[in-house]
Amino acid sequence: MKKELSVKLNHYLANLGVEYIKLHNLHWNVIGINFKAIHEYLESLYDGVTASLDKVAELLKMHNEVPAASLKEYLELSSIEELPSVELKGISTLEIVLKDFESFKKLGEEIRTLADQEGLYDVVSAMEDDLGEFTKAIWFIKAMLK
Ligand SMILES: [Fe+2]
Repeated sequence: MKKELSVKLNHYLANLGVEYIKLHNLHWNVIGINFKAIHEYLESLYDGVTASLDKVAELLKMHNEVPAASLKEYLELSSIEELPSVELKGISTLEIVLKDFESFKKLGEEIRTLADQEGLYDVVSAMEDDLGEFTKAIWFIKAMLK
């Protein structure tokens, strides 16, 4: 695996690590009339993120790379912006997740392209699965925001 790809995979992994906690923050702090629906939806999203976190880290190990595995590294490598621990209306929580998931899609597409150039079909397949999930979530969130 070329350096550019392993760096991007660790960036993606770090983003997942930060997003996992951020989605819990939103899950705990969402308020308003749609509380229950959004609270539960955010739980389904962090479950998906943690599954991807493990999958990406194990892919790096399989290719003899070193996955970032500490919160310190995640904060250094991640481009996901953390939130303060404050209550937020449902619409704001969805807008925040939409922006983050669009950035995951962009980075996932870059990784998929690089992995394809190297013939790393397992990485391509993992990214295609994630891209499908992010695309679906983006559709859900946009529909909720209409
Ligand atoms: Fe919970």
